[in-house]
This record gives sequence, C-alpha cells and structure tokens, in this order.
Amino acid sequence: MNAIAPLSATEAEFRRHVVRHISKQFDWDAFPSNRGYPDLARAQMRYIGAGGSPKVGEPGTLPPDHFTLSLIHKPVGNYAACHAHEIEESFLIIDGVLTVGWEQEGEVVEVRLGPKDMILNAKDIGHGFRNDGIEPVLMSISVDVGKPLPPRYLYHPKLGTDPALARSFGAAPGKTLALDPAGSHPLQPLMARHVIRHHEQPRIQDPAGFSRQVYVGPGGVENDTCRKELWEIPAGTGVQPFTRAVEDAFLVLEGRLTVGWEENGQSFQAELGPRDLLKTPAGKAHWFRNDSPAAATVWNVVGEAGAETVVFAKG
Ligand SMILES: [Fe+2]
Repeated sequence: MNAIAPLSATEAEFRRHVVRHISKQFDWDAFPSNRGYPDLARAQMRYIGAGGSPKVGEPGTLPPDHFTLSLIHKPVGNYAACHAHEIEESFLIIDGVLTVGWEQEGEVVEVRLGPKDMILNAKDIGHGFRNDGIEPVLMSISVDVGKPLPPRYLYHPKLGTDPALARSFGAAPGKTLALDPAGSHPLQPLMARHVIRHHEQPRIQDPAGFSRQVYVGPGGVENDTCRKELWEIPAGTGVQPFTRAVEDAFLVLEGRLTVGWEENGQSFQAELGPRDLLKTPAGKAHWFRNDSPAAATVWNVVGEAGAETVVFAKG
C-alpha cells in the first residue's frame, strides 16, 4: 500500500481556493424575502461570499475581499422583484435569455441579454429581472462588498404590489420602454452605458497570445470598484506566474484551463472545467495555461478598478 503524504499547508490552501461546480449545491432558499412566492423562486450557488444572501460564512464558500461571485439559476417564467441597493452588481449571462428592467417613477426600461452579455446594475437604481424565455437562465452575479446593506424593495408582492405590476418591475401598461442609447428617457442612455454585448465588445489581443474583452473597466463599463473581463485562451496558450496587489478569480465558462500557484519554489496546479473557479488572494504568484485541444472562455474578476497592470509573459 502506498503511503499518501499529507498536503503541505500551501498546497492545502491552493486546493481550498479551487471551487468545483460539482462540489456545490444550488440553494433555493438563499433569499428570505422570496419565501412563499413561487414566481420569485431562484437558486443561488455561492462561490465567493454570500452575494446579497444572509447565508454568510458557509463551509466550502470562499470569503470575499473586494467582490462576491455566485451563480444564479432563474426558472422559466420567474422574476426578481424590483429593488435598489447601495452597491453595484454585475449580471453575466451564461445560459438563456434574461430580461432586466430599470425603474424610475413608474417607468421602466427593459433590455434582453443573451449568453456572455452583461449588465452592471448601477447604485441606487431600481432594478429587477425576469425569464421570459423557454430555457432556464444561468448567470454569474458579482457584487462589490463595500456596503453590504439589504436590498430596498420597491415593487414586491409582500408590499402589497399587484402581482402584474411587480412582474413588470413597477411599469403600468404602456410605461415600459425598450433600451435605446439615443432614447429621450434619462434611464435609456444611462442603462445603455451599463450594458455590454459580447458580439460588440472589442477584443484586445494580448501579446501573451490570448484575447481579452473588458466588460467593467477602461473600455467597458466605467466603475470604481472591480475590473471584469472575458478571456478567450487558445489551446496551448498560457502565461508565466504573475502577482497582483488584490485578489482575482477565474471562472471557466467553456473549455478547460490549467491553473497554478507558485510559492517558495513549490508549484501546485489543477485543471478547471466549466463553472469551476480559482480565487487567488493578493500577493500570490499564479498562472494559467490551456492544456486542452480547444479554446477556453474564462470570466476574470479583479478586486480593483482601473486598467490592467499586469504585463503578461507567454508561459
Ligand atoms: Fe440587485
């Protein structure tokens, strides 16, 4: 029988920071305000932090530094009641089509988002979402953790709001507008500046051999908290170890990505598949490489605003 050597403390820390999709459960009771309202039901899978749920500090979920990251599953026909909060949150669509509404004084601007589209919900703007499609919506939500105040519901059946009005995020018939960057309602250009379409966003070809689309940050939605990018990493491409002054996270959307840490001459690595995540704390040397025969698509969240500071070197 082979003896199994115990993991070093550093390797154990690395393993703890790899969150496997199959190791997690979707939680249908993450948001107490939805209890008793089947039309509002949604399921949350928490990778980093609680992301607006009161279920803080659960085993197997990584503690947040500057951002949270979770998956949300929204069944066909269900909606999330219009609310506002003092933090920004991004919705990155992974599967399905999501309708998002922003409300102001009884008027609502709606946008439909497809796979790899994103909206950054601005601070203090009333917003809700609804699945009008024929397949469940899966999306990744990231919230900055600056002010973790509970949401303020603006239209919710528990407040006595008529269910049809709650479903339309507070818009009476005739009060819903489509997203239009040149529209005359002030919410229309404002919302347009907070939506990223995957097919429109420029691809930055990094000299290290992969492409980056900036979703939140210079060239994307301007924001003062975190940077968020979609990376396409061709087969056989990787980078040498790099460090940041803040944490970052890789969430694989498609394909496979080998990721690793280097510390004190030791190296640890793991292969991530779709919906697996690595969070790397500030100051740790980490790298990635696509060892698979197909390209990998990766959602990259960095715990600081501004332009990319890392100069990637081909690995
Ligand atoms: Fe929200």
